Amino acid sequence: MKLVRSVAGVREVLMAPREEAMRIGLVPTMGAFHEGHLTLFRSCAAECDVAVASLFVNPAQFGPGEDLERYPRGLDRDTHLAEEAGIDLLFAPGAEEIYPPGFQTAVEVGELGQVLEGASRPGHFRGVATVCLKLFNIVQPAVAYFGRKDAQQAAVIGTMLRDLNLPIELRVIPIVRDADGLALSSRNAYLQPDERRRALALPRALQAGLEACRAGGGTDAALAAAQRVLAVGDGIEVDYLAVADLDGPTLAGAIRVGSTRLIDNVLLDEEAT
Ligand code: PAF
Repeated sequence: MKLVRSVAGVREVLMAPREEAMRIGLVPTMGAFHEGHLTLFRSCAAECDVAVASLFVNPAQFGPGEDLERYPRGLDRDTHLAEEAGIDLLFAPGAEEIYPPGFQTAVEVGELGQVLEGASRPGHFRGVATVCLKLFNIVQPAVAYFGRKDAQQAAVIGTMLRDLNLPIELRVIPIVRDADGLALSSRNAYLQPDERRRALALPRALQAGLEACRAGGGTDAALAAAQRVLAVGDGIEVDYLAVADLDGPTLAGAIRVGSTRLIDNVLLDEEAT
């Protein structure tokens, strides 16, 4: 696997595969790899001739007071894991490579970027869409891989690909969960054991919602059942819980446990809603 820090370096490495019309796949990430990332890497490696991952903790998608500084970082470990999972090229630029002095252009995300995560984190999806468009232009992949855990992010990216006519196929890979049901996230590393136990209220609430929906209650019952579980969750603060169309009816939620903010979602069965 090649580790490259510059845009010019990426272009150079990908020149020959592009000339040979090889299928290039891209997995954009912010590092601190866990099994969720590794699943994306393995899918990309299995489905593409050249598997590229980017590793960049994107300052533009963090709001003031969020966890940009404490976001987990560990390039050596990540490099090793990416290689093992079949990545051929890891692009890990510094902030100046992505946002050089004078940088001033951004992707404006419409309504979809203002609700749920967008309402709690103003400007978040503008930062995500802008960096993803840059990464797409740098790597020019045929396919891009995203995790369903960030369902709204995947929907924002899908909308951008369509609206801006980008010739990239979007692959959204199912959520990977720990044995206790918690969705894998780099931010789980912040949780103390007691906080982790409390955080389980979120996946339990979503599961209760899914079951209520399947039992014939539709989306209203799903939301009500999930709300009931979260209402009795101790030591958590609910940021939002809602049903939204994120490439299918989705029950999505965000909670705070101590100083950690976690998100999760479940796709409700189309026919039961
Ligand atoms: O999901 C993430 O890790 C980030 O939002 C992404 C897509 C890499 C953009 O910075």
